[in-house]
Amino acid sequence: MYRDRIRLKSLWGKVVPAEEAAFLIKDGMTVGMSGFTRAGDAKAVPLALAERAASEKLKITLMTGASLGNDVDRILTEAGVLSRRLPFQADPVLRKAINRGEVMFVDQHLSETVELLRSRQMGPVDVAVIEACAITENGGIVPTTSIGNSATFAILAEKIIIELNLTQPLDLEGMHDVYIPTRRPFREPIPVVTAESRAGLPYIPIDPSRIAAIVVTRKQDSSASILPPDDETNAIAGHLIEFLGREVKQGRLGRSLAPLQAGIGTIANAVLHGLIDGPFHDLTMYSEVLQDSTFELFDAGKLNFASGSSITLSAGKYAEVLPKIGSYKGRLLLRPQEISNHPEVIRRLGVIGINTALECDIYGNVNSTHVNGTQMMNGIGGSGDFARNSHLAIFVTKSLAKGGAISSVVPMVTHVDHNEHDVDVLVTEVGLADLRGLAPRERAETIVRNCVHPSYRELAADYQRRALQRGGHTPHLLEEAFAWHTRFQQTGSMMPAQPAAD
Ligand code: COA
Repeated sequence: MYRDRIRLKSLWGKVVPAEEAAFLIKDGMTVGMSGFTRAGDAKAVPLALAERAASEKLKITLMTGASLGNDVDRILTEAGVLSRRLPFQADPVLRKAINRGEVMFVDQHLSETVELLRSRQMGPVDVAVIEACAITENGGIVPTTSIGNSATFAILAEKIIIELNLTQPLDLEGMHDVYIPTRRPFREPIPVVTAESRAGLPYIPIDPSRIAAIVVTRKQDSSASILPPDDETNAIAGHLIEFLGREVKQGRLGRSLAPLQAGIGTIANAVLHGLIDGPFHDLTMYSEVLQDSTFELFDAGKLNFASGSSITLSAGKYAEVLPKIGSYKGRLLLRPQEISNHPEVIRRLGVIGINTALECDIYGNVNSTHVNGTQMMNGIGGSGDFARNSHLAIFVTKSLAKGGAISSVVPMVTHVDHNEHDVDVLVTEVGLADLRGLAPRERAETIVRNCVHPSYRELAADYQRRALQRGGHTPHLLEEAFAWHTRFQQTGSMMPAQPAAD
């Protein structure tokens, strides 16, 4: 039955078991695999690689769109297959190997990886492994629930392995828009002028003679582990919706707002979910990951169109949405991540970007990646692509982590992913700080007042006051700037010990 999905009959003879296809990948190679936030990832060939590594030396550079599902990053890490990994990951076992220095992780803006490959500043890609739901009559690859970097990996790689996944619905066909920017320095403007713009083809165009193997698979995407909204995420969503309402009242946005981007995770999902009951309508999304909330907004009649690079859903939503994905045709487009995250398009459309911070500081710098400035969490992902170029760059975070032992708002962040120049609005469950047009001293004032948890507010205000006495455009006490972090490392809490009662 899989032959129906390989419409170019001359490719039928290329179907082989995963183990045989995996032999195309040799020690030292660079492999570009499909997969973006657990969606549309290669699922069989990486496992065959891990098995081979038990009996031979096999180390590769692995590039993907973003994080992988089906524990592929864990399995490859445990098998010792990964020597380099880029541009994003979210696996606890791989994260530890990165932090031990065993895997060289290159944390990149998601829009940039293929640009670097195309201009030969990185690479070359030896083998591309791409999940498909069909192969067209002319050998084009029809991707599945994500595009990510798959198109450029396939176009640039010497050899292509296709994982034809029979569980991925054929109704996905027609929902992709594969547009590849022309080469620099004579690049044409990217013809995406609204979230709905179709600019390219519904498949990845390649010369079918480069398809070296086809592996038939039947494994589903992993589901997203989104936690249900809680009091804090609801409060964050509430502050943000109130703020957007004010923007509408003041005539800076219309009732349909501007194309929305929301980062992956519980908070961003909860914020979008909150729009269901909000006063806005005819919304559009120009995002990278389309999560449960996208489909809830569709079904509530609030969202007209969503453009992204992947569909990443919780288990329940996946079971509900995938069988009827065809009903969203005409309202949903998946694009290569360099287009979903392209600075030119984000700036043109005036996107509202909502991403999550690990910590932020009293001047508005944001750390999205490094715990205590050293330990990698996941990576910057697309947050930088959107923050720098959005109409409104919004960062959300709970004001406390680890049961209150950590304040997410600190005097100085220990690592900067998004600097003060790129951050327009900060939101915690405590409140919202609108930083637009404010000088650093004013930013500190509003962030300490509106975003810091009450249990740390006096501590932050005290730091701010004493720093002000020393002066400067961005006042700091350098000898104390990281004292909260070092106290956490030494005592397990950023909170100073209370003097013992007599
Ligand atoms: N210091 C140390 N740890 C912190 C922390 C801080 N200031 N703030 C949060 N954490 C910990 C949490 O305790 C939690 O730990 P656990 O996994 O052991 O429970 C973990 O970080 C995740 O925090 P959580 O509050 O559950 O938020 P999240 O799942 O939404 O993740 C980021 C937050 C920042 C890690 C995540 O959004 C991310 O990786 N962002 C960067 C990529 C990105 O923004 N992409 C956007 C486009 S998809």
